[in-house]
Amino acid sequence: MPEAELVVIANRLPVDRIAGDDGEPAWRRSPGGLVTALEQVMQKVDGAWVGWAGKADLDVEPFDFDGTRLVPVSLSEEELEDYYEGFSNGTIWPLYHDVIATPVYKRSWWDAYVRVNRRFAEAASEVVAPGGFVWVQDYQLQLVPQMLRELRPDIVIGYFHHIPFPAYGLYAQLPWRRQVLEGLLGADVIGFQRVSDAGNFQRSIRRVLRHQTKSDTISVPQPDGTTRTAIAKAYPISIDAQSFIELAQDPAIRARAVEIREQLGNPSKVLLGVDRLDYTKGIRHRLKAFGELLEDGRVEVGDVTLVQVASPSRPGVEAYQDLRDEIELTVGRINGDYDTIHHTAIRYLHQGFPREEMVALYLAADVMLVTALRDGMNLVAKEYVAVHADNRGVLMLSEFAGAADELSSALLVNPHDIDGMKDAVMRAIEMSPAEQSRRMRSMRRRVLENDVERWGRRFLADLEHIRSQRTAAA
Ligand code: G6P
Repeated sequence: MPEAELVVIANRLPVDRIAGDDGEPAWRRSPGGLVTALEQVMQKVDGAWVGWAGKADLDVEPFDFDGTRLVPVSLSEEELEDYYEGFSNGTIWPLYHDVIATPVYKRSWWDAYVRVNRRFAEAASEVVAPGGFVWVQDYQLQLVPQMLRELRPDIVIGYFHHIPFPAYGLYAQLPWRRQVLEGLLGADVIGFQRVSDAGNFQRSIRRVLRHQTKSDTISVPQPDGTTRTAIAKAYPISIDAQSFIELAQDPAIRARAVEIREQLGNPSKVLLGVDRLDYTKGIRHRLKAFGELLEDGRVEVGDVTLVQVASPSRPGVEAYQDLRDEIELTVGRINGDYDTIHHTAIRYLHQGFPREEMVALYLAADVMLVTALRDGMNLVAKEYVAVHADNRGVLMLSEFAGAADELSSALLVNPHDIDGMKDAVMRAIEMSPAEQSRRMRSMRRRVLENDVERWGRRFLADLEHIRSQRTAAA
């Protein structure tokens, strides 16, 4: 197999397996921002991507897709239950999102996590060129950096953590807290979304491993008595802003945005929520605030409509099933109480939509509601900002989403404070065009400057720097 200068490892491959026109299985690029971000770099440097193909027990040989070598890792049904639904999404996900749901600590899940992480590490070690880069993505693969370092001491390893890193008081609950930190510390560069995430990580390193840290660096003692320096700092991820701007100029999409408003019965204000159906997103809190505004008579059905897109996510995990039931019960109750024959209070869509339809929805919305209880970044907030070239529209943004660090001109809210959120919704609905424009302009500047391409470049530049230091020292 040809060797790759840059190998990305993520839980998922950047493609989805679909039925092709001839009925045979085919591959389609997944819509994610990470894929777009890395696409160009990968093509330039002979890149490879190691990941799971999205279905259980699928054994597929490595193949080329749009100039990138894709290396599928096969996972059995049982491994998916224990490694993906179990340890990744039943232990780490809730723990790292401030225990909004209760994390489950199960030794059999941990064993599967170790086993599967090793499989990913081995697959990457077989394709990376001597002295090349491997860039590990996200919490499903926290042990991979250290495993890779043992297999391939010649390479430079990066790890990016897309979700929050919790405060030590929470992290300390993890029965495998030492192993996970050692796993991550196998990387030369460890990236986080927020400065506070990097700070939390460094504190855990000091408390659990007793290593010394200094600003962005950690001294990692080596078996031979020397120390190695690892970098741990914030690289806030972003979106491919240009592609959103272009979609928002497309006449068909603009026409669709007008049509959406018509189909909603031309309310004077359209509020929009777009989330994966996840308990971290604060959908329940948002619905509560909106329901109370209707109850108080501060908003009227027909005059204001809430569109809530909740794309299906992790249906095999119990907490997600419970959340879905609860949200659908709440939406049903609110609509039952306030709908008229003509108008509905909440349009709830438990579906995923193509990017074009999402952009039309963003364009159609007067107010975007991002009320996450905890979120690594929240790219929906940035997408909404990018498409509003006319500087109209209001972003209401939770201060617990990573995006709040950059988008401080949004209407920032604490989603736990229902009265505060209700007031913020009213402020958003009533905001003058001049104030909308002032806030949107400043947010757009940030989103357009710090796009995902810049994010990738910053991270890879730090990996490159480590490599040249290493070469100079050799
Ligand atoms: C978050 C995580 C990603 C994950 C995505 C979708 O954004 O940070 O790593 O891929 O959710 O979740 P899923 O479990 O469907 O991959």
